[in-house]
Amino acid sequence: SRNWVVMVTAQTPTNIAVIKYWGKRDETLILPVNDSISVTLDPSHLCTTTTVAVSPSFQQDRMWLNGKEISLSGGRFQNCLREIRACACDVEDTKKGIKITKEDWGKLHVHIASYNNFPTAAGLASSAAGFACLAYALGKLMNVKEDDSQLSAIARQGSGSACRSLFGGFVKWKMGKEDNGSDSLAVQLADEKHWDDLVIIIAVVSSRQKETSSTSGMRESVETSLLLQHRAKEIVPKRILKMEEAIRNRDFASFSQLTCADSNQFHAVCLDTCPPIFYMNDTSHRIISIAEKWNRSEEAPQVAYTFDAGPNAVLIARNRKASALLIQRLLYYFPPSSDDLDSYIVGDKSIAKD
Ligand code: PMV
Repeated sequence: SRNWVVMVTAQTPTNIAVIKYWGKRDETLILPVNDSISVTLDPSHLCTTTTVAVSPSFQQDRMWLNGKEISLSGGRFQNCLREIRACACDVEDTKKGIKITKEDWGKLHVHIASYNNFPTAAGLASSAAGFACLAYALGKLMNVKEDDSQLSAIARQGSGSACRSLFGGFVKWKMGKEDNGSDSLAVQLADEKHWDDLVIIIAVVSSRQKETSSTSGMRESVETSLLLQHRAKEIVPKRILKMEEAIRNRDFASFSQLTCADSNQFHAVCLDTCPPIFYMNDTSHRIISIAEKWNRSEEAPQVAYTFDAGPNAVLIARNRKASALLIQRLLYYFPPSSDDLDSYIVGDKSIAKD
């Protein structure tokens, strides 16, 4: 019969790098010039839900993002689909009388429906959650036996940062040594329970799409920035070790110092790129000043900040009390009537501007 459909649904949160990935040594395989470390957000915010389905009645692979059909012809989708199919195994549902063999997976087509619970164009790392979820859901559908790190190497080929969203908690993407990318994958450093005092607040400075995509920005930085070379060779390897230690010891002072310094260095690399790339704006800079001033006025740092390829601030407060004080400060400097911030997204709740 051609009437059956087998479906799998998965949900994956996005992740925020505290030691940044910036620069590829291989653009097709997406191999980075340095290791990176991230924290995966709690699944109630900024996550992707993806349903993948297979049926003999499907004529071609198709995908819908937030209800709108998108093209799967891009190399990144094709690479992910091909790699997952290569690992597919037999699937049998005796009750329903369905059997799909390893060989069948090469011929059957899939339909993919993906939803982001946040605005896709908001420059809030939507591709990270998206490709991680796609790789995971397809892996489950096709009974792939590879472990999550091996799946992360497939998600990596969709979007580099996606490989880190296969795990919760703190995650390291090891750049790897191999030319074929087999050892460029994510490993979990600590699970989500290890340091659950931290509260992540995202100040949405602008929900417009970024002007320079990470792909072209990285290419330009690799080609023109000497600071990038220095950072990748001399700075990041040492920072990775210190960051791993800070996470292991739940040492917020070191964690905050390293996170802020690494975000600032990433944006310095962007400025060192020719022509320069500006991801942060005046509001981003004001948020940095507010955080720095507050940290200096206390005995110990209360907040870490980090910015990706856009102006939105990701603020990591040391605990609930610090997050409440931080929100008070943000509301004072950026009252709901001001146009500087679009909204806040806080640990377990959102504060809309209006
Ligand atoms: O995976 P991409 O191509 O979206 O690149 C992500 C780059 C940064 O977000 C700026 C840094 C990072 O490590 O996530």
